[in-house]
Amino acid sequence: MDKALSGTRILDMTHVQAGPTASQLMAWLGADVIKFEPPTGDATRGQLRDVPNADSLYFTMLNCNKRSITVNMKNAMGKEVFIELLKKCDVVMENFGPGVLDRLGFTWEKVHQINPRIVMASIKGFGSSGPYSDFKAYENVAQAMGGGMSTTGLPDGPPCVAGAQIGDSGTGLHLVIGILAALHQRNATGRGQYVEVAMLDAVMNLCRVKWRDHQRLAHGPLTEYSQPTAGLDATPRAGNDSGGGQLGNVLKCKPGGPTDYIYVVVQEAVWNALANRVGGAALVSDPRFAAIGDRRKNQAQMWALLNDFAAGYTKRELMAVLNELDVPCGPVMSTKDLAEDEHVRLREMYVDLDHPQRGKWHNVGMPIKLSDSPAQIERSPTLGEHTDEILREVLELPDAQIDAMREAGAFTKDAPKKTSEYHPLRA
Ligand SMILES: CC(C)(COP(=O)(O)OP(=O)(O)OC[C@H]1O[C@@H](n2cnc3c(N)ncnc32)[C@H](O)[C@@H]1OP(=O)(O)O)[C@@H](O)C(=O)NCCC(=O)NCCS
Repeated sequence: MDKALSGTRILDMTHVQAGPTASQLMAWLGADVIKFEPPTGDATRGQLRDVPNADSLYFTMLNCNKRSITVNMKNAMGKEVFIELLKKCDVVMENFGPGVLDRLGFTWEKVHQINPRIVMASIKGFGSSGPYSDFKAYENVAQAMGGGMSTTGLPDGPPCVAGAQIGDSGTGLHLVIGILAALHQRNATGRGQYVEVAMLDAVMNLCRVKWRDHQRLAHGPLTEYSQPTAGLDATPRAGNDSGGGQLGNVLKCKPGGPTDYIYVVVQEAVWNALANRVGGAALVSDPRFAAIGDRRKNQAQMWALLNDFAAGYTKRELMAVLNELDVPCGPVMSTKDLAEDEHVRLREMYVDLDHPQRGKWHNVGMPIKLSDSPAQIERSPTLGEHTDEILREVLELPDAQIDAMREAGAFTKDAPKKTSEYHPLRA
């Protein structure tokens, strides 16, 4: 076994971001991921295109190490191909809108009947039960409804979405965990099961500490917040407050550009050393900041002093100063900073790839590092690149049958040319 998931075959019907990010992780862990696309392809292939006639980065960055087959599920022969593939796969993944697979005739009960060992994994905006179950969802819809937006942003500004894609990619991570657990159980029992992750649920899970604060409000104000919280009945936007037991915030550095900031956690254990560096013995003994309770109460003054100090340094210079004092801190990195960062490159978190349509490009690497089976990142497939290969290798179909199925419209969006009763898969 070359990779951790070698020997696991996944029928990947996912599209856009939430599902493909999950199946890409499964592929990087070594699964054989068959991207099962409509003849027109995953819509993201053509969205936000930067190179004419080439698959967009939106697609290529989320679909590496997969094989692509195009099958028309609205064609009788296409459905037959789907059924045959279901029989040969360990997992089927999808993130269609509510009821799409049911309308195509493939409920979980039907899929389970076709292959009792298969694990079926679905992402839905709000899950398959409850008053919201009929609604579609995208990233920011999930952030809005899962509590992410109401708790993100400056207290006196509008709610904000986070740059991290917690609604899509965050849900995808949850799905991978569910699939791995279901495969583990299947290997013991021989029986597959249905795994569902709702984007709303995943965002709530990722906002867990905001629910800690929600309940603490009933017992008094949240003293670590830099704004008054007495009398509130819901967790407010915390700006850049740390949200943990230690005080934290951003400091503005020189030369004052949009990302010239550093995040600093004034950990209790480091206050004396930090105060000494910033203001000497006088600041160490200043009663306004002597104990953590005093610093919480007077944090506006403390941050003003630290900001004055930070103004004399670039974010990288200040990082060096603070690291020497063992103060937890992090410069606010732009995508450019990260793309050029030695540490990031060394850990293979920004990798170079080639693509037949678009030439050189980069992908963010695999964040899960396995010592015995490190991920080898390979480019995404072009549309239908492996259709014949998969039909021959996985379904073991001879070329004549593949041709007959093509004639019957199994792989194209056009109506079938022939309407005979001939069924290549049953021939
Ligand atoms: C993302 C989303 C809003 C996109 O909506 P959409 O573009 O209208 O796509 P849907 O998933 O609703 O529908 C897909 C259609 O393609 C069709 N289709 C999919 N695969 C096909 C295939 N291989 N052959 C033929 N038709 C196919 C489906 O049958 C469906 O058609 P229908 O509307 O006639 O039933 C929706 O899929 C969704 O809510 N997904 C769940 C939540 C989610 O994952 N959101 C995050 C996305 S990043």
